[in-house]
Amino acid sequence: MIEKQLEKLRQDFPILDIKVNNRPLVYLDNAATMQMPSAVMDRLQSFYTTSNANIHRGIHSLSEQSTKDYEAVRKKVSVFLGAESSEEIIFTSGTTAAINMVAGMVSEQLQTGDEIVITQMEHHSNFIPWQQLAQKKGVKLNVVPVDCNGVLNMECFHRMVNGKTRIVAMTELSNLTGIENPVEEMTAYVRDHSAAYVLIDGAQGVVHCRRNMSVLRPDFYCFSGHKLGAPTGTGILYIRKEVQSQLSPAWYGGGTVTSVSADKIGFLNGPAVFEPGTPNYAGVVGLGEVLDYWMNKELEMISEQYPKGWLSWECELLTYLEFGLQALDGVRILGTTDHRKGCVSVCAAGIHAFDFCKFLDQYGIAARSGHHCAMPYLQAMGAEYAVRFSVAPYNTMDEMDAAIWACDQTIKLLNGQREHGYKRSRKRHFE
Ligand SMILES: Cc1ncc(COP(=O)(O)O)c(C=O)c1O
Repeated sequence: MIEKQLEKLRQDFPILDIKVNNRPLVYLDNAATMQMPSAVMDRLQSFYTTSNANIHRGIHSLSEQSTKDYEAVRKKVSVFLGAESSEEIIFTSGTTAAINMVAGMVSEQLQTGDEIVITQMEHHSNFIPWQQLAQKKGVKLNVVPVDCNGVLNMECFHRMVNGKTRIVAMTELSNLTGIENPVEEMTAYVRDHSAAYVLIDGAQGVVHCRRNMSVLRPDFYCFSGHKLGAPTGTGILYIRKEVQSQLSPAWYGGGTVTSVSADKIGFLNGPAVFEPGTPNYAGVVGLGEVLDYWMNKELEMISEQYPKGWLSWECELLTYLEFGLQALDGVRILGTTDHRKGCVSVCAAGIHAFDFCKFLDQYGIAARSGHHCAMPYLQAMGAEYAVRFSVAPYNTMDEMDAAIWACDQTIKLLNGQREHGYKRSRKRHFE
């Protein structure tokens, strides 16, 4: 059954059929960006062919149509996130832009003695803006540490959140280990012990966790469209309605005001004030299409065996992959958890992650190497670089087997070469 559904799903992603280095592509770099279904490409084509015009403030038919399409996506995103109203949805160019925007907005509220709390698990995009803000404003930055298993130390979290805390920024799901944070519990703790804003980085979580904003009620939640197969340069910043009136926009420009003169300005209410300038409206239309695509596909897939539809399938793939990788010679899986979501990262003894990945590429396996923009987290686990495999619903068990096999071959080859090279140089040395 799943084979048939998978075959059908894969037909929607033409890139999955290409060959890389004369091998079928095995795309396991989904945490960096997910492939785009052809429905989105078709939608962009039709949008640019029939409806393209700059949105808002145009009263000709094309502009009105374009505006309608753009605003319809705002509604769609609010349903997708379970927000209370589409007024809570702000379009941005991605997660990084959204976090920097929030840092800019809360900056003016920070005063001497205030504190910011982030975690050691953060992607640099949710680490550096807060570190820089803390330095600029002279406030204390508290970084909640992880233990050697890569799991947040909740005791420290509890100690660090207090009456001085003004903002707590945390990831929903790690882009390095696939470990999920208990964000409901953490948000509730912040509410009980401080008046701080809560920002949740949902760049990975939105793909694999699917939380409901009306239940979670953070102040800010953000994600990037491309991690769900939407065009790059699209993203969402959810801002809880009650919080919006407390914030001044981080950026100014066209489309945000009721009137302007040399000495007076009247700002609009609602999301428009946070979206100055021409947004990536065509990309947003593509984002709407991808949300429709996944919401439909997930409903179709739900069954007793896969209660969360394609999300359950992803978990099955990842568990199998982790098990296979763990059995390989000298491989260390980063982070310990009962259930991982989205990705698994490894270090192989004596082999640099870049060499590892370049060899995998020869087998058609697209994995990602490097520090994954998570240097503090890697350092906490005693690693400098890692190889990350990240899955999407369209991946197959055969692909997991291919990746495990290619890793095994790579390890044998690179270890063999190292031994061989070492012996040769020793021989030369003693000659
Ligand atoms: C957890 C997390 N946060 C933030 C980002 C930054 O996303 P973007 O580069 O799309 O702005 C990423 C990207 O990989 C991520 O995984």
